[in-house]
Order: sequence, then C-alpha cells, then structure tokens
Amino acid sequence: MGRISKLRIVGRKDNRADFFAVPCFERGRPETENLPTAIVRAAGIAASRRGFTAKAGQSSQARGTADRAPAVVVYGLGRPKSLGRAEVVKYATEAIAEAARNGFRNPAVRLPDHAVVTGGDAAEALLRAIALTGYRFEDFRSRPKRAPARTVRVAVALRQQEVYRSMVPRAVATAEGAVLARNLANTPPNEAYPESMAERAREMAGKRGIKVEVLGPKELEKKGMGGILAVGRGSRKSPRLVMLEWGDGSERISLVGKGVTFDTGGISIKPAAAMDEMKFDKSGACTVLGIADAAAALDLPYRFRAYVALAENMPDGDAYRPGDIVRCYGGKTVEILNTDAEGRMLLADALALASEDGADTILDYATLTGACVVALGHSGAGLFSHNDELARELLEAAAGAGERLWRLPLWQEFTEQIKGAHGDLSNSGGRWGGASTAAAFLSEFVSTPRWAHLDIAGPAYVGRSDKGTFGSTGYGVALTIAWLERRAG
Ligand code: BES
Ligand code: MN
Ligand code: ZN
Repeated sequence: MGRISKLRIVGRKDNRADFFAVPCFERGRPETENLPTAIVRAAGIAASRRGFTAKAGQSSQARGTADRAPAVVVYGLGRPKSLGRAEVVKYATEAIAEAARNGFRNPAVRLPDHAVVTGGDAAEALLRAIALTGYRFEDFRSRPKRAPARTVRVAVALRQQEVYRSMVPRAVATAEGAVLARNLANTPPNEAYPESMAERAREMAGKRGIKVEVLGPKELEKKGMGGILAVGRGSRKSPRLVMLEWGDGSERISLVGKGVTFDTGGISIKPAAAMDEMKFDKSGACTVLGIADAAAALDLPYRFRAYVALAENMPDGDAYRPGDIVRCYGGKTVEILNTDAEGRMLLADALALASEDGADTILDYATLTGACVVALGHSGAGLFSHNDELARELLEAAAGAGERLWRLPLWQEFTEQIKGAHGDLSNSGGRWGGASTAAAFLSEFVSTPRWAHLDIAGPAYVGRSDKGTFGSTGYGVALTIAWLERRAG
C-alpha cells in the first residue's frame, strides 16, 4: 500500500541530509537562517554562480567540500510579493522529486521565511504536502519502481520552528487519512467491490477503535433502502451500507459517502472512452473513511457517525431501468429517468437514515455530476448548502487547508426540475444546472438544518489525460479535519 514519508523538523544541528533544497528570492540571499554551517556555505556558492538571479523556476547547485557533503540546490522563488502558498508547495514537492530522481535517499527542504508559510494552517498544509510526496500506488506492479524517501527533513526559520513542530501530528493524520482514501480509491474495481470495501472499512475501524455495522442486501431490503438496492441490482456483487460510530463530544457530526465501486452508467450506459476512470466513483466513500481514520487518530471531540453506501452500477438482465419507480428509505418514490444518475439514489437512502438517526451537522461527499466538473474544472469541489453559516465555515476551513471549494446555488427552481410525473421525484433534472439539480434532489432526503453536500467529481482524482499523476488525490480529508479542528477551538 502507498504510504507517506515521515517528517522531521530540523534545525542547525541535523547533518543527516544528503540533499538540501534552499530557497532564494530575487535580489535576496539564500534563506539559510537556522541551517547547518556547511549548508549555508554551499548555498552561498550556488547562489553566486553567474547567471543565477533567483527567478522563479531557476536553480543552482553546489556541493560542500567535506566528505559525503550533501548536494545543496538553491531554488529561485522570484519576487517575495508574488509568492503564494501554492508556489511554496510546488517548490518543496518538486525539490523532493528532483532529489529522488537523482538517487538521494535523505532529502531536506528549507522553507522560506515568508508570510505565506507562517501560522498553523500553512504549516499543516505544507507538511501534509511534503509527507504525501512519499505516496506511490505500486501494489499491482510485479516490479515496483524506485521507492521514495522514507523521511523528509524540513527546515524552517527559527521563529517558526515551534509552530511547525506542533503541527506535525495533525499533518501526519491528514496525510495518512488521505493515503487511506487514495489507496482505497485507486484499488481496481475487480478487487474493490461493495463487500471488499466494507471489509477494508472494518479493518480501519478495528485499528482506530471505531464501532462498525454493515448492512447487506437482506438488511437493506428489510429497512426499505430501495435506492441502494436499485443501483446494486445489475451487479453480481451485492450492495452494502457501512455504518461507523466513534468519539465523544456534545456535537453530533454525520458523514455520508457515495461509494459506487464502478459506474458503467447501467442500462443508460456510458461511452467507452475513459470509462476505466469510473473506478474512482467510490471516492466519496473513500474520503469519508479517510476522514474517520484521521479524526479518530486525532481523537477529535465529536460524536461521529459515518454512512458509506456501496454498490456497483452495471447493466444486466435484472438491472434497474429507466422508467422504474423506486421507493427510497423513508418512503419517497423516485422515477428513474437515467440509470447513470445512480449516486443520488444511494445517497438518498443514506441521507434519510443519517437525518433520522439525528445529527447536528451532516456532510456528504460524492463524485456526483459531470456538470460540476464542467463548471469548476478539476481543481476544486462544488459546495451546496441551505445553511449560510455552515457554508462559510467550510469555505474558510478549505481555504486554510489549501483545498479549493466553491459554493454553487440550491435555488427553488432546481427543485422544480427534479419533480416526478408518476413518482414524487425524478432522478434527473435534465441538462441544465446538473450539479445543482443533483444537490436539490439530495436535499429532499435531508431533514437536518445543518447539511452540506460536496460534489468532488472534479478534484477527487487525476484522470489519465489530465496533468499530474494519474490516480486518487484523497481530496476532502484535509478540509474536513481543518473544519473540525476550528470548530473544536
Ligand atoms: N459518477 C458520475 C459523475 C462523474 C462524471 C464523476 C465525471 C466523475 C467524472 C455520475 O454517476 C453520473 O454519471 N452523473 C450523470 C448524471 C446525469 C445522468 C443526470 C452526469 O453527470 O452526467
Ligand atoms: Mn453515473
Ligand atoms: Zn456515478
């Protein structure tokens, strides 16, 4: 399984690195305060090489004179004024990648002394990004490629050392939660099906002391969970609903995840191009499991419940069809117009149950609509909520964590679009405003005032033809932990 690199915050005395990345601003000197003297010297030599002006993207290398002296690379960061946190993340992760490419086993990165890397939020986000440079998904290769660094050393200005040290546990927990989400989401659909996913949830729960209950097809039938059952009918692999419970505190937080282990579209089948990427249609479920892992590891003071709805959407002689009318948990009926709008059918049952069980806040995570990707692209998720306060909290937490999130509307008109002709609702609102009509559909099953839906179809994974490394990102774990930490004060 993929894993993180360990983090060590180092100061002047740590001389174990074999590669040291040092940042430098244009018209400045290399940022070497609080670094070992040998690194300071080598950085000075590298930075004074002819032609090096510390423009963004430029780098210059020097090696100390001592035996086994580390390679020191000075990276230009351009003007301090135009530096954002994302640029620092890019500098640090690319420096670590360069070290790995050149065979260095013990890389160290000095972060610049700059406002954008100052404070707890920045420290958590940077340390998480650095820890995640150790992630590879190589389980299915017969010969794994070269392993990434086990430990990455991080050096910061002396006045930031304490904050960075104190944020290591949270950064490690969010990175490990994201790794769990990535490992699960990357697992191919021949191995990740509802039953095996429930088993993986059990393993995580066992490790973290989380209570688990798994409903199979019989229990789902008994409870009247027609949405999950309808989606799962076409598959030889029967559906599951995994319920988790952990933590104490006065506030009850419930998390709901869409876990479509493979989305062919069903009878309303999808085109062949890029259909393989629909293994990532379980990402919402994986994010919820990653959040549970991290929240339990950090012992966050809430009464948590999680509902992970798992089904495979396949065409079959017994698959649900367009025209079917399905009764969801709680009794509302849905006319199926398109079997590819399956995520909302799973979430309908899970959200209705979460509402009935009682929660102060419900958050759901789903790769729900292509329309959301059309609207926002791959960088960020769509946020939908009737509750302005909850929306603001989540947007602020996401900004702090460095995960993009953007609010989209839930107007009354969208609810009109999903009314049914022969049933209460229809599962498709037609072409326009697809992300909002999907959210409006979900809201019909929620009775908790503090509810938000995150459509993560864009940022949950990097597709084969997108830029970046193909695979799951674990999006959503960090912003949720940031939100929970803020609320806990
Ligand atoms: N899983 C898809 C949404 C999706 C699309 C996720 C692209 C990631 C990338 C979802 O089940 C779906 O097929 N939605 C349909 C809804 C429509 C039929 C109303 C869509 O977005 O086209
Ligand atoms: Mn679909
Ligand atoms: Zn889907």
